[in-house]
Amino acid sequence: MPSAHYLPLDPQASDADDLEEEEGQQEHRTSMNNNQYNIRYHPQPAVDYDVVVDDDDNDDDRTPTMGKAPRLSRSIPSRRRCWIMPIMLLVPFCIVFLYFMLSSQTLGLGTSLEDVDDDYEPHNGIDSPNTHALNETLHICSESHEDGRLYVQDKPSSAYAQLPVIYFVTPTYPRREQIPELTRLAHSLLHVPRLHWLVANDHERCDTYMDILLNRFGIPFTHMASPMPHKFRNSKPAPRGVANRRAALQWIRQHNLTNGVLYFGDDDNTYDLRLFTEIRQTQRVSMFPVGLIADYAVSGPVVRDGKVVAFLDSWVAARRWPVDMAGFAVNLGYMSLYPNVNMPYKPGYEEDLFLRSIGLHIDQIEPRGNNCTEILVWHTQTKNKKSPVVRLEKKYLDGRSNLGALFRSLKVMGVAFASDTEGPLATISKNGKGKPHSYFLS
Ligand code: UGA
Ligand code: MN
Repeated sequence: MPSAHYLPLDPQASDADDLEEEEGQQEHRTSMNNNQYNIRYHPQPAVDYDVVVDDDDNDDDRTPTMGKAPRLSRSIPSRRRCWIMPIMLLVPFCIVFLYFMLSSQTLGLGTSLEDVDDDYEPHNGIDSPNTHALNETLHICSESHEDGRLYVQDKPSSAYAQLPVIYFVTPTYPRREQIPELTRLAHSLLHVPRLHWLVANDHERCDTYMDILLNRFGIPFTHMASPMPHKFRNSKPAPRGVANRRAALQWIRQHNLTNGVLYFGDDDNTYDLRLFTEIRQTQRVSMFPVGLIADYAVSGPVVRDGKVVAFLDSWVAARRWPVDMAGFAVNLGYMSLYPNVNMPYKPGYEEDLFLRSIGLHIDQIEPRGNNCTEILVWHTQTKNKKSPVVRLEKKYLDGRSNLGALFRSLKVMGVAFASDTEGPLATISKNGKGKPHSYFLS
């Protein structure tokens, strides 16, 4: 199939070659292979055909096709040859001139404050040495104009009243990524009917911002604060998410819940919506593979003839149930038969010991996800970074601009902090030039 356009993007450095340079270098280019030529091919036909002289004048050669570039002429007409010398002399001069123009702009040299507003030139869409018009390789692989999505909102919640409730337990803890993680997770859960979200925060106090956030999603939820006991805080490894999951187990016990399904869903995993349909059917304990776990990038049951017979996981460590926390779900009626249900503070062994505490037998396990052949949950991990302190004078963080409210909200979410004296100076710019804060904010 002929492709509309097929040229790979070249690194910026070679994009800077200009037209004159191309002419001057034609002789050299003819010895380059097609690939090198393709990269330098100028995407605008009008310009191309001026430069690329096609010696057999065959129109087919002018239409770029996949893997075939227009050919360069080997002989340069004598009319052109006489232009080459002056052009070659002009090119270095132009390069030096452009260099000084660009560097003085980037460094903000020789511009007064007023220049910020005056010298803005909107891009006119015409190809220049530094830009390429949109002209990319593009194959439409498939598309659908039919909206087949099933929204929970399509039906009143009463339509789902017969479904067992999924109690989705999410341990979470304050850090820069907490609010984005919970927001992403909430947007998955928004599609799931009959779900109660137990958000257990590893924090001493109730976080008011979290209340507002969770209320806004409209998902039935319980927000609880359940900090990791001090004695474990500095242990390595620490029992992450255990105090909070234990608190959720306690809440379930206190509410005497014997109907529904329990699932431990960390705040940073990725959930396929089919997972919820699958776990909702859990009679005792369901199990399924989790993607992106440890050395094999997967952990889950081995299934034969519809029965779980063993486990695939790169870290056995004598665990009877070597599975990830996200790899199983438990029916609350079944769990209620085991009053000693527990999740001990033993890093690495939380899943195993929890499943032992509910008397699990291997032949009771219900394999899900098409007999454990599909991945319905991924153990994705978000890079954890320290919240930055940004130097931005407090006197400017008032109602005169948005920045006051923006940084107040970033602070509440634990994402970033403004300071008068600490951190890298915040860069505020216009038209590519940084200016003193007072320029825009005073
Ligand atoms: C893996 C497992 O997937 C977790 O289920 C298990 O709890 C964890 O190891 C462990 O045993 O340490 P991993 O991605 O390594 O998960 O751990 P995190 O995602 O950092 O933490 C698991 C959950 O606990 C998350 O939902 C996280 O928000 C929460 N957590 C983490 C806390 O509540 N407090 C913390 O100090 C750290
Ligand atoms: Mn995780």
